[in-house]
Amino acid sequence: MDKVDTYLENTMDENLMINKQSWDLASKRFFGRAALPDYGPYVPSEDKLNLFGDLSGLKVLDIGCGSGHSMKYMYSKQVKEIWGLDLSREQIETAKQVVGINLDGKLFESPMEENPGIPLNYFDIIYSIYALGWTLDLPKTLDNIYSYLKPGGTFIFSWEHPIHSRLTYYDKSLIFTKPYHDETATLHEAWKPTPAVYHHRKLSTYINALINSGFFIEKVIDDIELPRESGQGKPEMWYSEYKASYYPATFIIKCRKGK
Ligand SMILES: C[S@@+](CC[C@H](N)C(=O)[O-])C[C@H]1O[C@@H](n2cnc3c(N)ncnc32)[C@H](O)[C@@H]1O
Repeated sequence: MDKVDTYLENTMDENLMINKQSWDLASKRFFGRAALPDYGPYVPSEDKLNLFGDLSGLKVLDIGCGSGHSMKYMYSKQVKEIWGLDLSREQIETAKQVVGINLDGKLFESPMEENPGIPLNYFDIIYSIYALGWTLDLPKTLDNIYSYLKPGGTFIFSWEHPIHSRLTYYDKSLIFTKPYHDETATLHEAWKPTPAVYHHRKLSTYINALINSGFFIEKVIDDIELPRESGQGKPEMWYSEYKASYYPATFIIKCRKGK
């Protein structure tokens, strides 16, 4: 039987390998998608929220940097150092090109569940745009992030709102097709034909995991922002204006490591 068919019995490393292969194949599809100043679908952007504030002179790390577009944005804000980590070799190679500066020793092809050599107590800001939810071990990943931050440092991440994948548009209605509270690993239905192992998690799971790792939560945002000219697109798409007019597609959390 293929490892993909047995993903529930696999070790975490085996599932990370499935996801690495999947992301290597999906890389082109996600070029520049979900990158700062955007936090993700149908949520206000950084231009409006200003969660990062003045970034000049700061040391910054991107978790799940993807094609590097958020790192490029950070660089344009005069940060002192920009570091990145991503599971996928394709994404890391793309990020090198996109950021366009020397990132030797600062860009890691690695799962976020492990520390590949990132310095401790070093970063002023760590962020993750639509990547943190891919972790197969949330407590371990948050402990890592906490350890990389300086005391008083900030962690900001965005991810798909946990309500979003629970509902489906069907016959002009939105219906619950999955329980909100079921957190068992699944093969992500939007990842066809290359499967990826994914843990749905409740919003409270994210919040409590942050608290358990030692973070102080400063802000939780699940506001909805629809385009000015609304009513475009197909309601049945994974993300659609129709769905977003009823429930959030994205949430953002800003938190801090104590001094
Ligand atoms: C939607 S993309 C992120 C986009 C990116 N943040 C940006 O600003 O352009 C999600 C990324 O998470 C990465 N990823 C998935 N699982 C991961 C893991 N366990 N550890 C590290 N990165 C992972 C994928 O390779 C992919 O590049």
